[in-house]
Amino acid sequence: MIDKYARFRYQPCLPLGKDSRRVTASSEHINLSREAACEGIVLLKNNNSALPLKSGETIALFGKATIEYIKGGGGSGDVHCPYIRNIYEGFYKKEEAEKVYIYKPLVEFYRDYVRKESVNVLTQEQIDARWDIVNNMEFCQKRDDMTYDTFAAMHVKEAEVPDSLIVNASQNADTAIITLSRFSAEGVDRRPIPGDYYLSDLEMKLIDRCCDLFSKVIIVINSGAIIDCEYFADNDRIDAVIMAWQGGIEGGSSIADIMCGDKNPSGKLSDTIAKSYDAYPTKNDFWECFDHLDYSDDIYVGYRYFETIPTASEKVRYPFGFGLSYTDFKIGTPLVFEHSGNINIVVDVTNIGKVSGKEVIQVYHSAPQGLLGKPARVLSAFSKTRSLSPGETQTLYLSFTINSMSSFDDLGKIAESCYILEKGEYEFYIGTSVRDTIKADFTYRIDDNLVTEKCTKLMRPFKLSKRMLSDGSYEALPMGEPEYFYKSPESNTTKKPEQEIPFDKVDEEITMNEFISQLTIDELAYLVGGQAPTGVANTGCFGGLERLNIPAVPTADGPAGLRLEPKTGIPTTAWPCATALACTWNTELIEAVGAGGGAELRENNIGVWLAPAMNIHRDPLCGRNFEYYSEDPLLAGKCAAASIKGIQSQKAAVSLKHFACNNKEANRFACDSRISERALREIYLKGFEIAVKEADPWTIMSSYNLINGLHTSESYELLTGILRNEWGFNGMVVTDWGVKNRPVIEVKAGNDMKMHCGYPDELIEAINNGQLTRAELELCVGRILRMFTKLI
Ligand code: BGC
Repeated sequence: MIDKYARFRYQPCLPLGKDSRRVTASSEHINLSREAACEGIVLLKNNNSALPLKSGETIALFGKATIEYIKGGGGSGDVHCPYIRNIYEGFYKKEEAEKVYIYKPLVEFYRDYVRKESVNVLTQEQIDARWDIVNNMEFCQKRDDMTYDTFAAMHVKEAEVPDSLIVNASQNADTAIITLSRFSAEGVDRRPIPGDYYLSDLEMKLIDRCCDLFSKVIIVINSGAIIDCEYFADNDRIDAVIMAWQGGIEGGSSIADIMCGDKNPSGKLSDTIAKSYDAYPTKNDFWECFDHLDYSDDIYVGYRYFETIPTASEKVRYPFGFGLSYTDFKIGTPLVFEHSGNINIVVDVTNIGKVSGKEVIQVYHSAPQGLLGKPARVLSAFSKTRSLSPGETQTLYLSFTINSMSSFDDLGKIAESCYILEKGEYEFYIGTSVRDTIKADFTYRIDDNLVTEKCTKLMRPFKLSKRMLSDGSYEALPMGEPEYFYKSPESNTTKKPEQEIPFDKVDEEITMNEFISQLTIDELAYLVGGQAPTGVANTGCFGGLERLNIPAVPTADGPAGLRLEPKTGIPTTAWPCATALACTWNTELIEAVGAGGGAELRENNIGVWLAPAMNIHRDPLCGRNFEYYSEDPLLAGKCAAASIKGIQSQKAAVSLKHFACNNKEANRFACDSRISERALREIYLKGFEIAVKEADPWTIMSSYNLINGLHTSESYELLTGILRNEWGFNGMVVTDWGVKNRPVIEVKAGNDMKMHCGYPDELIEAINNGQLTRAELELCVGRILRMFTKLI
């Protein structure tokens, strides 16, 4: 009889694909990655139908990404894939099909340049050596600078193209395509400086020169997150701009597919692009302090800020939800009505242009200002059409609960710690971006304030002095000394079985509680800590106890692909970065990508994927934004839920991360996110709440940062009070890797597993001196082992 957990214990090599072929980095997965990359591309500008390129157009490809395309971000989210399709290779396939002609001397120039400059790129050994230094440094600015410089040195710098070559290119090509590429990685934030958020002098000079010489100039942005668009957005000499993100293994092909018109762009921004970094409300507090971050912008994040706060709307370059297409759509008059606690929307979308394409319908609502104050617009639902042929109409049906329009009253202005629908009028706006909407001919009225959910007072701030209100002023918040709430669990009274029964008999011959009653204190303390990796895993294992046959379940990183070390000899599919996926606004596609990733996990005998990641894009410069979806919690929550459903359909567990408020990378192990309960509930936790309630993630990863003075892995209020008691989460929680927080407090908080290694001695000592109970340890172990049973 086969051991239920054979794939973890024996690591069999069993291909999962049809005809015994491997699914890992299979052509099916690579094609799906390319499809998702295409669908996430956002066409920001297209004057005089500069795009798609005309058949037979000659193009000159500028920018090092012609050869060194940036497929994804760095750190634990980096993926080792079999190859990376650069932009030249993407267009080369189109040239073979005689769609475009590429001016080759420029390609040769970049190829030589990248080859020569690669010697200056850090080797893995040099990077590791730098990490050793960085990791041993105190938390200080120097550490941050060194990390930043290390990342900068992981890729070649942008090239200075000789003027004669630009002139020659312009004499031989109709169109200049200039790619601006950016790389960022975990551990450090991007900076508001030339060459990072802003264009460098070199880039601006190149753009200017191309504008002087070429009849058509197109900008492609190859970045995991927003960059400043002012240099080209309003410049009439620049015809088109595409935001191509970091598209994974076939990123170069996806750019060529869109630019040649083989695919029609249908991506929509998942963030607001402002006219300058200074326009974002976070620009001061994000940089102000190394050890804490005041979320004084409160719920006015992204478009909630720009659409609400007086004069802020003028500072928007490209609004949230915006993206052009090669065709036009007519949005019919929406029918909006209330039925059984839901707002329902029925709307016809007709393709009135000449080519097939998809459109995204976005529904926003406004709520009465009342006593709590509200954003002028809040995304309440969205849906994407199928590909519509010219003349074709699709009717979309959208709906959302009335209760989801409630606001959280943290100061007791109406009813403390409750979600409330304030009395007054609720309006609905249906359209294709937060700005481009039709106001529905339907108003939902509430006569009296209505409590829609009573919560508990949890996670309150003690050191946040003020927060923004909807008129742009600030209100003072009560300060004080922290007090944290904790309730101990009842002891397990289950009787130990008379004979020893192994783990694989749980649910068949014994209950989980009976099984756990057989474990000694030492074993319990051992099981709440991570173990060494087995097989191809490189981030360690959960479990692993021979005596009772508990398997060691391997984990591996993501989210942009299954991350295995190159030395394992197993390249995997690199999917588009999370921001690109969010810009598809296509949850079915994201679910399919999740299922693809999950299948690669399963084929390689990994049980837990440290993915997806879903922190809010609070500031465009958070170094990990590429791993996260959006500034909006509904969009982020729906994307994460889709991804989780896909991954877990393959019997691979997700580890939804980083819970929560890991919105800045600098000093991430020690930075305190000071934030109001309302902003937590409505913005920063909301996406996680949606994902938990809709998709049941089997594991969640707590974050490195603190929230209101306490590390998230030590926060009973967060992990037990909100996550478990209020949302009904029944999976396990794991720390982020290498946290130095107090293991005893973590167990009490409900952080079940400590990675990458545990501290059994500290736990045993705490049991011996009465600080910790067996019941507290058992609770954590039970949740870990229950997760294992879902993997078979
Ligand atoms: C990252 C996590 C990652 C873990 C394991 C940490 O540094 O923050 O996102 O999953 O390492 O590699």
